[in-house]
Amino acid sequence: MTTTELGQENAKLSSYQNPEGILKDRLAPRTDKRLSMIDPRWFYDKTVLDLGCNNGYFVRLALKNKARRAVGVDKSDCISGARDLAAKEGVKAEFWQADLDGQEFRRFCPKFDVVLLFSVLTHLKDKENFLDWLDDKIRYMLIFESNHGEANKVHIELIKKHIYFESIEYLGPSDIPEKPHHLWVCRKPSHEKRYGVIASAPFEFVPIDKIKNWSEDTLMNQKTSYGLKDLKFILLRDDIKKRGFRDPLVVEEIKSGEYKGFQGIHRYLAAKQLGYKDVPCKVFKGLKFKHLQ
Ligand SMILES: C[S@@+](CC[C@H](N)C(=O)[O-])C[C@H]1O[C@@H](n2cnc3c(N)ncnc32)[C@H](O)[C@@H]1O
Repeated sequence: MTTTELGQENAKLSSYQNPEGILKDRLAPRTDKRLSMIDPRWFYDKTVLDLGCNNGYFVRLALKNKARRAVGVDKSDCISGARDLAAKEGVKAEFWQADLDGQEFRRFCPKFDVVLLFSVLTHLKDKENFLDWLDDKIRYMLIFESNHGEANKVHIELIKKHIYFESIEYLGPSDIPEKPHHLWVCRKPSHEKRYGVIASAPFEFVPIDKIKNWSEDTLMNQKTSYGLKDLKFILLRDDIKKRGFRDPLVVEEIKSGEYKGFQGIHRYLAAKQLGYKDVPCKVFKGLKFKHLQ
């Protein structure tokens, strides 16, 4: 099918996102530039949510790269163009026409492994509330693109203020220098992603002094670690103080009421310094950890 045929058949195609090459302006090459910065393996076996998805290009891309589920959300009618394009390509994409500022969307939207937020944040009414909400919806990774016209760092700084990430990597500018957009990939310390079996372990609040094997010495004996005086630890402790735990610790119940720590020693030590009595945990019983590590 030629691009003209596609355009005539489907008047719902947005003039913004145009990876299909109908537009001849800077937007089509811009999508190629973004593609060159995104590693397709990030989508493999993940659930993916594209917020402000427009014609759904990245939703289709995620599914072509073996995402388990991919959902695009946009408040505009371009959602029907997105549905048509996905049907034409035979990919099982889901598209929801919903307002990211709306109560219902926020109430019912489930968690996703990977969330895309490309050139959308600037359009939202209450960015700070939105980011607080978004924190709980991202299991593993946020890929963020700033809008053009914004000062480079403003919105990534806002994201850092509202969401704790283990690492934030700048991928580069994704548009022409006169209208710069910028891309980042932000990763959470999600152990559930690394060890899928943890997802099904039951949740409990566990008395902190019943977790027996963790101390500063254990920490210093770990191969890759940062210490209690490092800035990374101080930032982690400050974040827990300000907003509480984001992910539960993972512990094994070795005998009734006694636990062995498995994941989260830094957070455990930070919680001790902060005077926590009980800490949120995923609790394994009778599982051998060796094969998980
Ligand atoms: C600049 S375009 C970016 C499209 C796409 N994310 C990309 O980068 O190729 C912004 C998109 O966000 C959508 N949008 C803006 N405000 C929204 C809101 N409150 N809820 C849902 N979608 C919104 C617009 O309809 C538009 O499709």
